[in-house]
Amino acid sequence: MKKDIGGVPYDQNLFKSIRSEFPALRGLEERGIVLCDGAAGSQMHQSAIQAMVESASRRNSNVGGSFSFSSDNLDAFTHARRTMGAFLNCKEEEVVFGSSATALNFHMSRSIGRTLGRGDNVVVTCLDHAANVGPWETMAAEAGAELRRIKVRHQDCALDMDSVRSCIDSRTRLVACSAASNLVGVIPQVQEVVSMARAHGALSYVDAVHLAPHALIDVRQLGCDFLVCSPYKFFGPHLALLFLREGLARSLPAYKIRPATDDLPSFSNCQGSRWEMGTQNYEGIAGAAAAVSYIASLSGRQREEKERSRGTQEPPSEGLSLLRASLRDSYSLISQHESLLSDRFLSGVRSIPAVKVHGPTADQHGRTPTFAISMTGADGQPIPPHVLCESLVEDGIWCSSGNFYALDLTETLGLEEGGGVVRVSFLHYNVLEDVDRVLRSLDKISKRRSAKARTQ
Ligand SMILES: Cc1ncc(COP(=O)(O)O)c(C=O)c1O
Repeated sequence: MKKDIGGVPYDQNLFKSIRSEFPALRGLEERGIVLCDGAAGSQMHQSAIQAMVESASRRNSNVGGSFSFSSDNLDAFTHARRTMGAFLNCKEEEVVFGSSATALNFHMSRSIGRTLGRGDNVVVTCLDHAANVGPWETMAAEAGAELRRIKVRHQDCALDMDSVRSCIDSRTRLVACSAASNLVGVIPQVQEVVSMARAHGALSYVDAVHLAPHALIDVRQLGCDFLVCSPYKFFGPHLALLFLREGLARSLPAYKIRPATDDLPSFSNCQGSRWEMGTQNYEGIAGAAAAVSYIASLSGRQREEKERSRGTQEPPSEGLSLLRASLRDSYSLISQHESLLSDRFLSGVRSIPAVKVHGPTADQHGRTPTFAISMTGADGQPIPPHVLCESLVEDGIWCSSGNFYALDLTETLGLEEGGGVVRVSFLHYNVLEDVDRVLRSLDKISKRRSAKARTQ
């Protein structure tokens, strides 16, 4: 899934101005702090926080009651499911909410596992987060199916297409593949993998958790059967959602207990779904929908403002196609901004010889602004990632270190034993000055270590 660079006029100031709309970011700049840990989770936009507060304070109720709190909550829930359908480009009944991507994947694996038999195989990649590996590993083991792993090329962390071809065959039942790596930021050839899975009659399960804040998701274009993402990575609350293709949503044996209906969700059945059990996280879901509206507003703020002043709550189909069009334009702006951030980081880091960037270093459109780095000390030995990370954090660069559950990838790259990498990951609320600050800090740490070595 390549990032779309469209023709919307880009203005860097937009991304400077929106920072104040993220309450948690306020005051950080004044304290000399650069928050660059976006791949672990974004900060929430104020509208998402507000939507959660409103849900809890104005209509806190279960759905299905005959009083206004309950019907207002059902309206909001319906609106949120439609919004998420527009976000993913699917029907509202194809949207499943859950507590986390990991939990949704594991839940789905319980159902898909019932359709597997001996001699079947399941394919995962060495690029993926454990959330899109572990459930399938367990499922395959329980069903007596074989688990195969698609290899990753060392030099750029792209998927090895020979390995893709040799893993997927007529006995493949499911192929799980990442849409973007949370460790090295590569955007792999997921479209080809999905097409190959389909050509062999296998299901495809796409993890778009890392991609979602960076590029527009389009499940129809991708042609996948499942796609998962988590609003806490795209400016909303801790929650997850899944696209589950309608035919499968109806036909797969649901692994469920009461209270969960046998239906797909609709307004008339109070949004009851055979894939969602018990009472839903209404306030989180409202916050997630607001996060999507925020992203859409980046390109269409004025249009939205007009709608609000007209009191248009939720225009049905034109509203949703307008939302989708605004999202497309917004992601185009985000892409242009993030490409600048990536370019600045990648070109700047070249002048700090002690720093190595793992993963793609050339094509900034085939990656997100997430960088896995290592630094060598004056003795030529790698500095343990947690030590480098501590130095950066002491200097106000808030990032993290480790393998970030992309264990197969750190092992493939030979980094696992040494403690993984330091991950510096930007989001659209980061600006070029943040990148420069990170580069200065890396340079300073590298020079300080060399100077210290000389005096020893
Ligand atoms: C690429 C990727 N997939 C899956 C997950 C797991 O998502 P969740 O925390 O919603 O379970 C993460 C979390 O960081 C991730 O980065």
